Amino acid sequence: MASTDHEIENRVSGSLLKNFGLEKALENLKALKIRSDAITWHRCFGALNLVLVVLLFISGSVMAFNYSPVPGIAYDSVDFAVFNLPFGDVIMGIHHYSWNVLLVVMGFHLLRAFVVGAYKAPRQLVWVSGIIILVIVPMFIITGDLLPWDQKGYWSTRVRLSIIQSVPYIGDFIARFLQGGPLTGIVALNRFYVLHTIFLPVLLLFSIVIHFHFIRYRGLSEPLFGEGKPIYQISFVPDMLSRWLILFIITTLVLGLASRYWTAPLGDPADPTDFSYIPKPEWWVLFLNQLVAIFKGPFSIIGTVVIPGGLLCFMIVLPFVDKSSDRDPARRIAVMVVAALILVFMTGLSLMGFIEHFLQKS
Ligand code: HEM
Repeated sequence: MASTDHEIENRVSGSLLKNFGLEKALENLKALKIRSDAITWHRCFGALNLVLVVLLFISGSVMAFNYSPVPGIAYDSVDFAVFNLPFGDVIMGIHHYSWNVLLVVMGFHLLRAFVVGAYKAPRQLVWVSGIIILVIVPMFIITGDLLPWDQKGYWSTRVRLSIIQSVPYIGDFIARFLQGGPLTGIVALNRFYVLHTIFLPVLLLFSIVIHFHFIRYRGLSEPLFGEGKPIYQISFVPDMLSRWLILFIITTLVLGLASRYWTAPLGDPADPTDFSYIPKPEWWVLFLNQLVAIFKGPFSIIGTVVIPGGLLCFMIVLPFVDKSSDRDPARRIAVMVVAALILVFMTGLSLMGFIEHFLQKS
């Protein structure tokens, strides 16, 4: 008897799922159980990070349809998309606000993990993979800043490249590699575009998969506060997934509305001959900017490499140095004081930078 269209369709999609191993993956996902405390509110930052990354990928992919990485034309293509295409301002705004919010949410996620000692054994590699993500995200911002080819992005990139160039031994090589030569022109724009849209997304996706792999196999930390609440098993699908979807919808609506009211900034077209233009540093980089401003000449390496590199090393080695199993913050005074000092130091420098660049008249 001849098969109906419906049966053929089912057979084809079934064999496709099987051949690509999707059937097994779907079965595993359906059978996946997680602890009920994985959906407590103070764990929402991890899920929000994920939602923001997905939003960045979607909005970025849509923007790529109308973008052309050629100096001059790049600016016109962005300008046209934002002000003439339907929802162009919303797409660009969601992309712009998502990375700003992602930096803040990652900060809270890290802070929570630190305070409750979630970086300790057996979750050291969850923490380290998180730190790797923390390093990758700013690279997206730095490479993305040049893409609209406006004054701010262009001159901020020139400043960053000159800071990179000042790093002894490797700085000049890295700056030339990024620019593809001595000038910030078409080759630089192409390289930044490829890094931003191919290389870094692959690296970030890979790092997030690794982060989730370690979360799954090393397990989430036991609740520190509110002990006594019963913990039971829930299904990832639909219990967790539906919450992630709700979070995704709410975040998209909030950022979409914000983009309609406050259009993402796009300055004047870049003018590489306008040396009078002084870019203001972004809020998240104010403290690094101050370090560079404080340590000058032969001491510049302290601001560009020693202090930022030292902080990064401190965060990476933390779970391997702080080995005690005690997770209660009240009994981890030494490490809490060190973290508080670092926070005060970074906030103080950021405030100094804010006053200098945004409040004082030049
Ligand atoms: C795109 C960035 C990130 C995503 C999507 C992400 C996602 C998640 C998710 C969904 C969880 C489980 C729920 C929770 O505890 O919140 C988690 C846990 C964790 N994350 Fe991240 N994360 C990111 C960045 C980071 C960063 C920057 C760090 C800092 C080092 C970090 C460290 C941790 C730790 C230590 C845990 C375990 C928490 C616990 O067991 O209580 N993550 N992450």
